[in-house]
Amino acid sequence: MPPRSWLFVPGESERKLGKAEAAGADALILDLEDSVASGRRPVARGMVRAYLDARPPGRRASALWVRINPLDGPDALADLASVVGGAPDGIMLPKIDGPAEVQRLIHGLDTLEARDGVPPGSIGIVAVATETAAAPFGLGGFASARLPRLAGLTWGAEDLSAALGASTNQDPAGGWALTYRIVRSLTLLAANAAGVQPIETLHADFRDEAGLRAASLAAAREGFTGRIAIHPAQVAPINEAFAPTAADVAHARHVVAAFAAGAETGAVGLDGMMLDMPHLKQAQLVLARHAALACGA
Ligand code: COA
Ligand code: MG
Repeated sequence: MPPRSWLFVPGESERKLGKAEAAGADALILDLEDSVASGRRPVARGMVRAYLDARPPGRRASALWVRINPLDGPDALADLASVVGGAPDGIMLPKIDGPAEVQRLIHGLDTLEARDGVPPGSIGIVAVATETAAAPFGLGGFASARLPRLAGLTWGAEDLSAALGASTNQDPAGGWALTYRIVRSLTLLAANAAGVQPIETLHADFRDEAGLRAASLAAAREGFTGRIAIHPAQVAPINEAFAPTAADVAHARHVVAAFAAGAETGAVGLDGMMLDMPHLKQAQLVLARHAALACGA
């Protein structure tokens, strides 16, 4: 079951690292990139490594991921060299232009896992695939890129608007401006085409619980299966939004039962509505997610 909530924790904050586990996130993203000042990165690397070492695989309340710095900058190699030996569940790779950089990271992880005695292939990758002007054009390449380790794609509006020299990423009504709606949809499509998790971006206003809930439910209805969080208060609303409700589960059971009763037919009727194969597939997905959550997977 892919994580519903992915909580960012600045890698140099003793206080936030200390509070992170209690937040109840499915995954934590220990950050070495934008939330850490560049002069503090050496310290942050040591803190993140110590955090991983204190919680070895199998003894983790949340999956532990690390966001490294962009591969073309001066920090990424030092980030990886410090954290891989701590056996993180995965690496978040920011500011890529396309699948080629994920491939480069795969090679690096192959080498460092061997060096550090970490099980080969155990470290996953989530790529932030929309933070440069070129990136949206690279999204189509994920479907055919055959990238082992790739577990998810997510998108970000802040760095993209900076890359475009835009003074806002919102439309006058307060929603995402068209450019950001386009890259959001392309991320959803690219992730599904590649068979990996589509992860919704963050909701920056961390005091706006109602807005977070509404936007997260809308994202879940569209097919995103998890979301970035930046504050512990965002974790519970996100976990709820990306879990099937009791009504969803009951409806899915009805759909599956209707198909079972109408054996050998591709379409059945339920409560006056035509159901065909996509409805059955969707119902089976809901039941699989419900079962995975029920057994804590
Ligand atoms: N992880 C763990 N604990 C966190 C946290 C986080 N992401 N965000 C806040 N907390 C803790 C705070 O330390 C505080 O505890 P304290 O009073 O014991 O120090 C408590 O939760 C309440 O925090 P609050 O006062 O409401 O927020 P803040 O002003 O301290 O922090 C942010 C606000 C946005 C700076 C903070 O939430 C944060 O650093 N978020 C992550 C930023 C990040 O990683 N960005 C990179 C990806 S975009
Ligand atoms: Mg950023």
